[in-house]
Amino acid sequence: MKTVKDYIRTIVDFPHEGIMFRDVTTLFADPRGFRMCIDQMLHPYAGTRIDKVAGLEARGFIIGGAIAHQLSVGFIPIRKKGKLPGATVSEAYQLEYGEAVMEVHDDAIQPGEKVLLVDDLLATGGTAAAGIKLIERLGGEVVGCAFIIDLPEIGGHAKLEKMGMDVHALCA
Ligand code: PRP
Ligand code: ADE
Repeated sequence: MKTVKDYIRTIVDFPHEGIMFRDVTTLFADPRGFRMCIDQMLHPYAGTRIDKVAGLEARGFIIGGAIAHQLSVGFIPIRKKGKLPGATVSEAYQLEYGEAVMEVHDDAIQPGEKVLLVDDLLATGGTAAAGIKLIERLGGEVVGCAFIIDLPEIGGHAKLEKMGMDVHALCA
């Protein structure tokens, strides 16, 4: 039987020379692959209270929407600067290839809410760390960080664990 990893392709030198880009569009496009991915990402959280799912732009929206629907909870988009229409809180972060700012609506999470943070890939951990800080600034508690792919040699996994996070991924 195929695993989630079997559905993911690697594009060499995208978006810059030297980057091995993990392309999950081939996973999302496959009905069995996509379902397997969502089911397996949720598996570690069976029995865990989750009030909201937060997804990191852009591929975290696809996963996060499906996971929130499965759990019958709300979905919160954490977006690149300037995309959200209401009042926001912001957090700057470093990427494997550049720098950016993430934002969330300042009324998206209520104090004490338990939030599952999701994205497709963990590399430096800069994006996820910015998401965690935004959720915590609104008073939310991050109960888990779930990814499809973890590239632990780039350091993100260790960075998130140092922040006290519970980190799960389906493949490396
Ligand atoms: C990718 C990926 C993660 C982030 C991981 O997004 O989807 O969000 O990079 O990198 P990090 O762990 O080093 O922070 P990207 O910045 O390419 O944005 P996009 O999904 O909007 O294309
Ligand atoms: N984001 C950061 N590094 C990445 C990679 N190697 N593949 C896909 N998305 C990424």
